[in-house]
Amino acid sequence: MKKQLLELLICPHCLPDEYGLAADITHETEGDIETGVLRCSHCAALFPIVDGIALLDPHATDSQRAADKYETDEVVSSYLWSHFSDLLDDPQGSQAYATWAGLMRSQGGVALDAGGAVGRFTFEMSSRCDFALGIDTSQAFIQAARRLLLERSLEVSLKDEGMLRREVTIRLPEEWRSDRAEFIVANALALPLRRKSIGLFSSLNLVDKVPSPLGHLREMNRVTRDVEAQFILSDPFSWSTEAAPVEEWLGGTTEGRFGGKGLANVKALLADGASELAPTWRVGETGSVWWTIRTHSNHYELIRSCYVHASR
Ligand SMILES: C[S@@+](CC[C@H](N)C(=O)[O-])C[C@H]1O[C@@H](n2cnc3c(N)ncnc32)[C@H](O)[C@@H]1O
Repeated sequence: MKKQLLELLICPHCLPDEYGLAADITHETEGDIETGVLRCSHCAALFPIVDGIALLDPHATDSQRAADKYETDEVVSSYLWSHFSDLLDDPQGSQAYATWAGLMRSQGGVALDAGGAVGRFTFEMSSRCDFALGIDTSQAFIQAARRLLLERSLEVSLKDEGMLRREVTIRLPEEWRSDRAEFIVANALALPLRRKSIGLFSSLNLVDKVPSPLGHLREMNRVTRDVEAQFILSDPFSWSTEAAPVEEWLGGTTEGRFGGKGLANVKALLADGASELAPTWRVGETGSVWWTIRTHSNHYELIRSCYVHASR
């Protein structure tokens, strides 16, 4: 983990109070902490840094990790394809990330990609701001993203058919800056980040995956600046009780505060100066992109992800 990140980080256990983390560094190379421990100055909670990856999800347990589909090799390979297939000139490749990135104006400050998986959007943001941070609860995803960050290329084994595999190499374009990006394991519902520290915030295909969608938006609002901030949310709004109880959904029901469609409700929350997401966001472009997940050569999932870009 790059040392410069330390000034941004706080203890996720102590939220909503914000206490800094001190680093006990065991091994460091050129400003990159490879092994060490982050310690809360208030509650004394310890967060390890292992193989350069800071583990800052306060809710993570080993049994949860073992059961998480996002920790498996097959899903890591699938997401690497989904994120970087356009760089591989794959005829089935998706333009979704380039479209989302095109909505974000360049500006100074720090970008946060919440639930950023294997890193595509974080890399995109590294060429549009001073520093881009990708967070995800999946250690396997963050490991793959960090390997790309350090090595700038990655061999990926894609499932072809049955036990047949195909090897491809992902190479990062020069404009994506390894010196301006980092990836850590963290939870979008308890971000280990100081309030008002983020200029650009992205939540792509995440809001329907967390147990508290509104809690995620509240955390987004806590860490983003009051002015000169941009927010992009895109989602298929595939509400499911596997992720969150119906009472927590921000859409997809006929009644209650969030009756109706998810995108309309998120836009209304952002624009309402009296809501949890004050100060008011100016809602800008909305639309949808086709986002593709690949299982094998003859099996793709085509997902319509509906987006809103907002600024304040
Ligand atoms: C459907 S994937 C979308 C990934 C990426 N944003 C994209 O659009 O390609 C959802 C991602 O959110 C992560 N995730 C799920 N719950 C999370 C949480 N509470 N905090 C952070 N990441 C989370 C998963 O590990 C996974 O990488």
